[in-house]
Amino acid sequence: MLIHLTLYRDGAERTLDLTLPPAAEAGLGLSDWSGASVSTALQVLQRTLDPQLGYALSCRRGLCKVCAMRIDGEVQTACTVPLHEGIRIAPAKPSLALLDTVVELSLVRSARIASSNSTSLIPEPSPHDA
Ligand code: FES
Repeated sequence: MLIHLTLYRDGAERTLDLTLPPAAEAGLGLSDWSGASVSTALQVLQRTLDPQLGYALSCRRGLCKVCAMRIDGEVQTACTVPLHEGIRIAPAKPSLALLDTVVELSLVRSARIASSNSTSLIPEPSPHDA
């Protein structure tokens, strides 16, 4: 399965066209990549291609939003988006990228508050977050 991955590392953008190894060889107990998430693909790429690959992952259920990134041009949670051939993956907001696909979430929240466009998946802090 081909993946178009845009990374931000050392202050520069780098775009890679990568082919995932066969799912059966990835050590995940999968026979093919259908239904596997973008997060799963990033985990496999980190293990097989680049141990320095940066991505964020926590709940794996679409609840915490730490894995938010731009997938096929739309900010979505990587743990809930299934892979497809030719998928495009990039940081949610390149100017806030810390490493590869990881962005500074507190700055994303600030940018969202400052912007009248509230299409971000990053939730506003609630009184319970204090
Ligand atoms: S890891 Fe929590 S939403 Fe994806």
